[in-house]
Amino acid sequence: MSDLKVNIIKHPLIQHKLTLMRKKETGAKDFRQLLDEISMLMAYEVTRDFPTKDIEIETPVAKCVAKTLAGKKVAVVPILRAGLGMVNGIINLIPAAKIGHIGLYRDEKTLEPVEYFCKMPKDIDERLLLVVDPMLATGGSAIEAVEMLKKRGAKSMIFMCLLSAPEGIKAFNERHPDIPVYTACVDDHLNEHGYIVPGIGDAGDRIFGTI
Ligand code: URA
Repeated sequence: MSDLKVNIIKHPLIQHKLTLMRKKETGAKDFRQLLDEISMLMAYEVTRDFPTKDIEIETPVAKCVAKTLAGKKVAVVPILRAGLGMVNGIINLIPAAKIGHIGLYRDEKTLEPVEYFCKMPKDIDERLLLVVDPMLATGGSAIEAVEMLKKRGAKSMIFMCLLSAPEGIKAFNERHPDIPVYTACVDDHLNEHGYIVPGIGDAGDRIFGTI
């Protein structure tokens, strides 16, 4: 665990809401709402060190110098399908962000990830991409998604997930040492079916009620 390069966001509100999400009796409506809220809180932490600059403005009372964001514009990139569940919370906080989508599946014969959908803002080379997927399990999808975004010209990325397994973080760190990983919790391990333990189950199914 100590050799993993990962930022764990331990805010009590996030941890409380995550516990509610883990419970098997939590239904899709509450699960989605909690993921929305956690994604917003995580985005707040991830953006903590965004650069600002001073600008002159005029309030109804007086002229003054005030702060405005000065860094790259943001795009949120959910990995389909479960990543969609993290978009609204982030967009609530960064309403000017554009949204790109990336979809991958694993070829049953070659086991290679295959991209089936990718639609990005034209200027991804100039934006900071927040690549999101609730679960970093084996790391396969996240690794390939980031690889494909790099090939398309992305220069600046952060990967943000709700839950992660040590195996997934390690694999991601090895392939993309330049991309910071943010997560709300590193769980114990992956089981033989590739599920995070104790985890939350299948994130996509729980978000969309397809269990
Ligand atoms: N994907 C999920 O949705 N859940 C897991 O536990 C692992 C991967």
